[in-house]
Amino acid sequence: MLKPTINLFESNVPFTNEEKRVPVYSDQEAPTIPSTVTQDTPLESLNLNWREKDLPEKERTKHVHRLHPYLGKFIPQLVEIFLRKYFQANQTVLDPFCGCGTTLVQANELGVNSIGYDISAFNVLLSRAKARKYDIGRARNEISDALDKLRRLTQTRTQLGLWQERAAELNVPETDNEYLQEWYDPKALDELLAYRYLIQNEGYVYHDLLKIILSRSARSARLTTHYDLDFPKRPQTEPYWCYKHSRTCSPTKEAFKFINRYSLDTLRRIEEFAALRTGARVEVRHADSRRANFPPIHGVITSPPYVGLIDYHDQHAYAYHLLGLKDRRPAEIGPAVNGSSHVAKRQYQLDIAKVFRRAVEAMAEGGWLIVVARDSANMYPGIASLCGVEVVAVLDRHVNRRTGRRSSEFCESIFIWRKVRCSLENAGTANG
Ligand SMILES: C[S@@+](CC[C@H](N)C(=O)[O-])C[C@H]1O[C@@H](n2cnc3c(N)ncnc32)[C@H](O)[C@@H]1O
Repeated sequence: MLKPTINLFESNVPFTNEEKRVPVYSDQEAPTIPSTVTQDTPLESLNLNWREKDLPEKERTKHVHRLHPYLGKFIPQLVEIFLRKYFQANQTVLDPFCGCGTTLVQANELGVNSIGYDISAFNVLLSRAKARKYDIGRARNEISDALDKLRRLTQTRTQLGLWQERAAELNVPETDNEYLQEWYDPKALDELLAYRYLIQNEGYVYHDLLKIILSRSARSARLTTHYDLDFPKRPQTEPYWCYKHSRTCSPTKEAFKFINRYSLDTLRRIEEFAALRTGARVEVRHADSRRANFPPIHGVITSPPYVGLIDYHDQHAYAYHLLGLKDRRPAEIGPAVNGSSHVAKRQYQLDIAKVFRRAVEAMAEGGWLIVVARDSANMYPGIASLCGVEVVAVLDRHVNRRTGRRSSEFCESIFIWRKVRCSLENAGTANG
């Protein structure tokens, strides 16, 4: 049984507008404190509707969970609850859609081995950078060495264009990447390319961590508005009225300040996680989970892709262009380009079931599958029957947003399924 650790969240945050509006938050029983959950905690006693004051953003994005922005991740505390309830130290949890690695990091914190799969190369890079073990002294030296060199190459006021001169000397080809030329001011692009050059040529052991700093900085340095960083439609080159800050803002012309800021933040975050990290194994594979041969596992905790909603490659397009990552977009399940037609939904069900059937094959009878999904189209009961699993419970929770800025309510379900003796015999045809 995983050891409970008491860690009450303390916050003076008042009720948000959303919390005042949505009935689930009024007069409710105290929400569950994740660290108090054990295998004996009854499912019915869980209250997963945390208010901002119960579970402030700082906790939801603690240590490496905010190493890089990622749209569509679940909160680590939800994963913690189900790891504590259904897994034991030294067992192995699979996340076949590991995204930015929330399950893997949380599992490691609790001494549970984990294995993650994802089709998006950037998500694999990010998950690996979050979950790996660092020699902190070495990481500090490499991060500050790269930053010092970047400063010397690009930040000498009296010598504007320093990097261009140096790049010519070093024979660094100019980029002909149209995306990069379109989305960055020339000065910002020079700074990003100089940092990339250092990552590629200085022999750093933790080059993947530096790539995450580069990518996070590249995201912030794009020619975008402050309020549309997730999916900006076109470059913003002129000053604009900013809804986020209620004033006129101008698109940024530099990247160095972000690289500087995120270097320090990254170091702080990996240090915080290093203090909690256990020796549990973490493995991340870049593969299509529909075709993966999963190794033996004890169970699954995952949140699958949505149908026709998020383009998981496009979300980090800047990273693919800068880092030259392999684009495997056609293999995404439920891709945004296919929309959410009847046909798209049916294909989605078959694809997700294909993955879960492989997971069921890799676990012993009695193994758990915990699946977190927003199922407004009611597709998951069909997926469960395609996999032949026993549906033990379905819990619903309201997804609270700090800003409360949205037009409709957003709920997600936690499907609690179990492999039974005849799961695979019962399963419908998911191979088609
Ligand atoms: C909702 S996200 C998972 C987020 C994750 N729970 C987290 O907290 O970061 C779904 C993930 O499924 C991945 N995905 C989509 N199709 C896939 C496939 N065929 N094989 C493996 N992963 C896939 C996407 O790249 C995306 O990262």
